[in-house]
Amino acid sequence: MQLVFASNNKNKIKEIQQLVPSEIQIVSLEDIGCNVDIPETADTIEGNAILKAAYVTQNYGYPCFADDSGLEVDCLNGAPGVYSARYAGEPKDDTKNIEKLLAVLKEESNRKANFKTIICLNINGEQHLFTGIINGEIISEKRGTNGFGYDPIFVAEGYNKTFAELSIEEKSHISHRARAVKQLIEFLKLK
Ligand code: IMP
Repeated sequence: MQLVFASNNKNKIKEIQQLVPSEIQIVSLEDIGCNVDIPETADTIEGNAILKAAYVTQNYGYPCFADDSGLEVDCLNGAPGVYSARYAGEPKDDTKNIEKLLAVLKEESNRKANFKTIICLNINGEQHLFTGIINGEIISEKRGTNGFGYDPIFVAEGYNKTFAELSIEEKSHISHRARAVKQLIEFLKLK
């Protein structure tokens, strides 16, 4: 089965390709000739996933799924959340986002946080949503060089290494995205 994944983010495509069974062929936006930066104007993670999947289905007519993710910090009432990519402003900059978050949390003892992914799947005229969450905490300085985003300062519950110190394979077993993708795959298997 062929499914469009509404993304051109190479890190994510790599992660997802490791997770899906071979009978599901993932097609990127580039593969369908879509070179638009699909607007992510919703004010929730869920809303942005819905917008992105709808863009592909409406303009290209393919079955498609889109994901949207963010880091939710407990003591910041879930911020940066849907605004994770641009927490420190435009243009998006992972290093500045981390610096800002570490500064905001400097005196904070409750450092609990979670990554969340919502996947929106449009298939057979229906919309389905899947949620993946991983709990953990924000440490006080960066460690590791793998991954992207907030990986160098996030340690998952039960782990000592940051996401940036795990290999891509290790992270892709436990990540929020992996958890949402697993639900997507289970759903597709039942189809
Ligand atoms: P996206 O919706 O997957 O593009 O994620 C939005 C933003 O959330 C990213 O630009 C990162 O700042 C953050 N984020 C999402 N997933 C991850 C992850 O797996 N590791 C680190 N940061 C992430």
